[in-house]
Amino acid sequence: ARHLLGIEPLAPAEITAILDLAETYVDLNRRTVKHSNALEGMTQINMFFENSTRTQSSFELAGKRLGADVMNMSMQTSSVKKGETLIDTALTLNAMHPDLLVVRHPQSGAVDLLAQKVNCAVLNAGDGRHEHPTQALLDALTIRRTKGRLHRLTVAICGDIAHSRVARSNLILLVKMENRVRLVGPATLMPSGVGELGCEVYEDMREGLKGADVVMMLRLQKERMDGGFIPSEREYYHRWGLDAEKLALAHPDAIVMHPGPMNRGVEIDGTIADDINRSVIQDQVEMGVAVRMACMDLLARNLRAQRGAMASQAF
Ligand code: CP
Repeated sequence: ARHLLGIEPLAPAEITAILDLAETYVDLNRRTVKHSNALEGMTQINMFFENSTRTQSSFELAGKRLGADVMNMSMQTSSVKKGETLIDTALTLNAMHPDLLVVRHPQSGAVDLLAQKVNCAVLNAGDGRHEHPTQALLDALTIRRTKGRLHRLTVAICGDIAHSRVARSNLILLVKMENRVRLVGPATLMPSGVGELGCEVYEDMREGLKGADVVMMLRLQKERMDGGFIPSEREYYHRWGLDAEKLALAHPDAIVMHPGPMNRGVEIDGTIADDINRSVIQDQVEMGVAVRMACMDLLARNLRAQRGAMASQAF
């Protein structure tokens, strides 16, 4: 493929190939030298129209560790503030001949639209409520490494499902890989029609957690709620916050995940988040660099192959 826009178009074998390549980067990644020349001579531009800590920094590190020239566009100080559109901004950057564009945008579908206008590889770093493919891939790698497999597991994704691109990408990936997925949360934060995506839906968190192998917690995305139902944090924590009593209902070896940023005491008890025997939250961050290295490495190989084919046609 030319771009990585979502999990939806990926076949299970392609997901496995990305995870296998990422695995080869996990150990290399713990050393501080430049590890590979997979992106040597290539330029990577990161355009984040929405705040990020983990995704932006790990894409930057991943590009540098693969030998790319990496530029972070500061969207706060760019001409977007003077009214320049997303497409005009992208076309301007495209004229500087980047090889890889990493884009996060608050509108669902904005990254797909941009990918149609540029002639480099585009990686979706999160678009609205639509998809966050590298997050689902790094979560999959974390699960596979911790549980020893990525199939026939029961995964409970809990919280604000309606506004979460992380939930959507994870649901699509986990169902493709033949896992049992439960979506758990208030009915008001559950999108309609999710049952058709091959998952089970629970409003009662205690029921939803019973026997789960993986418990994935999500943040309440108040910035996307535009006046809809927002439960009080106190009530929310009581009914849908992960505490020791609710976690005890999951499988005794269940792992706890959270994509971050985390609101301690709202969707998760801080002690559980910090419990290294249950929580793999820091592993998720670590896998993020390896997975992003693998995604960019594969797209760069495709780019080089396309350019090679075009050059040979020209003769
Ligand atoms: N998980 C995630 O996307 O985190 P950031 O918003 O910090 O990038």
